[in-house]
Amino acid sequence: MKEQVISFELNREKVEICADPALSLLRLLRSRFNLIGTKEGCGRGDCGVCTVLLDGRAVNSCLIPAGKVEGRKVLTIEGLTREGLKKGAKVHPVQQAFIDKGAIQCGFCTPGMIMSAYALLRDKPFPSPEEVREAISGNLCRCSGYKQIEEAILEAAKAITEQEGKW
Ligand code: FES
Ligand code: FES
Repeated sequence: MKEQVISFELNREKVEICADPALSLLRLLRSRFNLIGTKEGCGRGDCGVCTVLLDGRAVNSCLIPAGKVEGRKVLTIEGLTREGLKKGAKVHPVQQAFIDKGAIQCGFCTPGMIMSAYALLRDKPFPSPEEVREAISGNLCRCSGYKQIEEAILEAAKAITEQEGKW
């Protein structure tokens, strides 16, 4: 397809790029913005490793055509990390909780898991374990570390609400 200019907000900064509007958002992020924290797995919406936030909602970026992000807000794992650094932490509290709870094994699913967790905590600061499980149900972990992942998300919820105002 013919390239077109696509303008959107990426990790809280306005960006403009000339790209094929049919290219997936995942490919756009990785190949044109070098944001390789968002991983590529199945490429058809089954695994969740490509999860980013689009206007605050967790989406599979492999299924979103680049042209559809015109005028919208995209947040990737790099943007979340930057938010943590800006506030004087080493990383974002959700990332820190994954580290503290040992919720990372090979780490391939981790960026997508963290973005789904962050989307959940924005909407529901006090999620139940069931709500956590539901929120990450589209994120597959081949290392089967779901127990630690669930604990990490509940821990992150606590950390964020305890430091309310800071986050
Ligand atoms: S790569 Fe997008 S859901 Fe698997
Ligand atoms: S930590 Fe390896 S796939 Fe989840």
